[in-house]
Amino acid sequence: MATQEEVIKAYKENFSLAPFVFFASGRINLIGEHIDYNNGFVMPAAIDKGIYFAIAPNTTDTINFVSVDLNEKFSININSIEKKDGWKNYLLGVLHVLQKEGFVVHGFDCAFGGDLPVGAGLSSSAAVESGLIFALNKLFNFNLSRVQLAQLAQKAEHSYPNVQCGIMDMFASLNGKKNHVILLDCNTLQYTYFPLQLNEYSIVLINSKVHHSLASSEYNIRRRQCEEGLSIIKNIEPAFTSFRNIPSEKIHDYKDVLGEEIYKRCLYVTEEIERTQLAATHLQNNDLVAFGELMYQTHQGLSELYNVSCDELDFLVNETKKHSAIIGARLMGGGFGGCTINIIETEKAAAIIELITAAYKNKFTVNAEVYKVQTSDGTFEITIN
Ligand code: GLA
Repeated sequence: MATQEEVIKAYKENFSLAPFVFFASGRINLIGEHIDYNNGFVMPAAIDKGIYFAIAPNTTDTINFVSVDLNEKFSININSIEKKDGWKNYLLGVLHVLQKEGFVVHGFDCAFGGDLPVGAGLSSSAAVESGLIFALNKLFNFNLSRVQLAQLAQKAEHSYPNVQCGIMDMFASLNGKKNHVILLDCNTLQYTYFPLQLNEYSIVLINSKVHHSLASSEYNIRRRQCEEGLSIIKNIEPAFTSFRNIPSEKIHDYKDVLGEEIYKRCLYVTEEIERTQLAATHLQNNDLVAFGELMYQTHQGLSELYNVSCDELDFLVNETKKHSAIIGARLMGGGFGGCTINIIETEKAAAIIELITAAYKNKFTVNAEVYKVQTSDGTFEITIN
């Protein structure tokens, strides 16, 4: 967990030219889970936890990276960008995609690190990709818009890391706005900002500290199952070209042809698309209680139909039901571990969260971590003296 100062210090210990400094945000998502790659709507916000980059061109053909959090370094020649192992691929994927799209990347030095826990469902990988691509856009004058950067960052994650993610995480990391959530139409990439007025409530994240290694392979499987389901339905009813225009109750008609598993996936997706639209109305009307009720429904769908929850996340969400001060809770992000997102009365939050984490420890012998996050502007440059 590195601070801005520690990242700059690490940069200065390793490199000599004065750096530019950037902050790339993590994200939360209020509702709209696993539907960014299914033409749905999502409601993420950038948060004040993220990754700092200290970076400058070095006038050579070599790119040097220092990961402050991991205390590791590596270098690579700009003419031999290739897939490596683990975390390096989030950076190399960005370089690979930029080069593939014809952007000329020169040598540079970069130290990075931050306070986004890895594997917590707060999109640390998207923050790394978004931060690097945002910095390179500035350093090498690519003149790409934030939306274009998000599209390229998504391609980067599809490349070397081989996670066939949707666009939500990088979009939120790059386009977030303080005190707002983004309502993003993942079909057209049109978006609007909603003021996040929580009044007497707060958003609290509880990190289960579980991270299943299957998460990314299962993610790709879900995506394929949805594509398969849609193509089966489209063959029968050509008007249904997207999950967006299939009413959820129609999915039951296709149960036999889809088979149990794909049927459940399609049902979840169409219900979640409808739920997110309803949720946007509740948020506009400032009806947080109704909004929270939909969050519980989302969790149930993710757990029982989409099968991306786990015992730990189900337990954390179920425990919240014992406390009327919590009006909504669900797993957040890809699933198979990571955080739950909870909307809770601010005054009662500390005492209740303590009860929940104590019960969690009792059951799983794991100390859950708790984060009270604030929304933030999306990835930006920081002026340093
Ligand atoms: C991960 C992916 C996103 C999105 C979420 C689930 O965070 O990167 O694109 O699909 O899972 O909503």
